[in-house]
Amino acid sequence: MKVSLVQSDWEAIECDALILPIFEDEAVDQPPVSRIEEHLQGLLAEIRDAGEWKGKSGQLITLHRPRGLHARRLIIAGAGKQADFDSAAVRQLMMTAMHKLKDKGFQKIAAYRRSRIGLESAIQSAVEGLVLGSHQIDEYKTESKGTGFGGELLLVTEEALTTESQAALRRGEILGRAANLARSLVNEPGNRVNPSRLAERARQMAEKCSLQVEVFDEQQMEEKGMHSVLAVARGSDEPARFIILSHMGAAQADQPPLVFVGKGVTFDSGGLSLKSAESMEEMKADKAGACTVLAAMQAIAQLHVPVNVVGLIPAVENLPSGRAQRPGDVIRSMSGKTIEVLNTDAEGRLILADALHYARSLNPRLIVDYATLTGACVVALGHFRAGMFCNNEELYRQFMQAAERSGEKYWRLPLDDDYRKELDSQIADIKNVGSRSGGAITAAKFLQEFVDKTPWCHVDMAGTDSFAENQELKGPTGFGVRTLAELAMKFQD
Ligand code: BES
Ligand code: ZN
Ligand code: ZN
Repeated sequence: MKVSLVQSDWEAIECDALILPIFEDEAVDQPPVSRIEEHLQGLLAEIRDAGEWKGKSGQLITLHRPRGLHARRLIIAGAGKQADFDSAAVRQLMMTAMHKLKDKGFQKIAAYRRSRIGLESAIQSAVEGLVLGSHQIDEYKTESKGTGFGGELLLVTEEALTTESQAALRRGEILGRAANLARSLVNEPGNRVNPSRLAERARQMAEKCSLQVEVFDEQQMEEKGMHSVLAVARGSDEPARFIILSHMGAAQADQPPLVFVGKGVTFDSGGLSLKSAESMEEMKADKAGACTVLAAMQAIAQLHVPVNVVGLIPAVENLPSGRAQRPGDVIRSMSGKTIEVLNTDAEGRLILADALHYARSLNPRLIVDYATLTGACVVALGHFRAGMFCNNEELYRQFMQAAERSGEKYWRLPLDDDYRKELDSQIADIKNVGSRSGGAITAAKFLQEFVDKTPWCHVDMAGTDSFAENQELKGPTGFGVRTLAELAMKFQD
């Protein structure tokens, strides 16, 4: 797929399909509606009066061979109310429209920019939406349609093109493609992507993008004392891996890095604290945090962000077997803290404990982790907002600004010390589960033990890693990739 920016008016652009956003509440005697009506002799009013199209966001109508236009099809895309058409709405609309058009066999699709928000942010959001919508995952179907739209994508604007607008286009494309990489990876089933294969994918990506990559095998992890990761991996025949991706973008090589950590459980059966068959169905996606970090590192490298950033991925498979860890086992984590493992299904926090401790050894400016950590977070927030926890107000502010730019939604949950008491163990320094109440918070409190005072943000993405049942798009969302890349970009000066 080739993406480019074109300066033109919408009537002159030549393409197979032209996406033209029309607002629910816009004047009908002004262009573009008045011009459409002129060309099509009042067709739009007729469709509106018949109640077949109201301009609600995402409502599309396709008109063939529209008179007066050079496009072969005009896609009138309902854009909702003008006042609500912010960058998130632009992204959403372009994603929906592209999703519906991507496999119609078109070679050239154009989208006309209509928004009152700043040009650069409109271009970036529109391209992100188009790229996200063009993605298709059906490689395991015998009659696969490929990985999505393979033709040419034009973003049409009447404003003069500048280096800034071209940069915004490129940013949108890189971020959209990175999110799609995360979506494809999360979608990979457990029999295709195990910890070693995930490390292999990280290596391939790193080579392509000139990132440094290092992968620890189990022996190296043993030498470093990463017993908490190794304990989870024991039940599986697949060995654990610890993946380190480094982007040394800063002018001074010794600038303290931003460290991003992602939970990489390539399949979570629960271990001996076995899950029910039903709750295991989605557990190939328990590596979503890892995929978020991997894909964000790709975007950061491709954007040449002049900041040092390190991505850490502890990768394991959590299975029961004669070698598996038992409820009641005590392990010594890399930090030296001992953990009583009362539930082997609370494995994410175990692998993150060592990864966060390792992160601290890198003298980080900040640590952000992404993890599909708790079912409790899904109960609390559902599928539209991820839970986020932060121990530092300045980082909280910066993180939320990055989130605002990405359009990804978070909701802050507390880290009061009262919750920590749930994790007191009689025989070790900490136990890995509390009671049923406040499960997302006690999980975060567990992680906090291992970051101490380092500015840190934890994202529980258990509910946002995949689209909700009733959404237009299906499968993994690529959640977090764009927020992390936007966050790194905030540190460039
Ligand atoms: N991977 C799960 C969390 C999860 C649940 C992600 C549902 C996506 C959807 C995690 O490892 C887990 O099993 N957590 C337990 C923790 C409990 C044993 C304290 C949970 O949430 O039930
Ligand atoms: Zn689990
Ligand atoms: Zn898990």
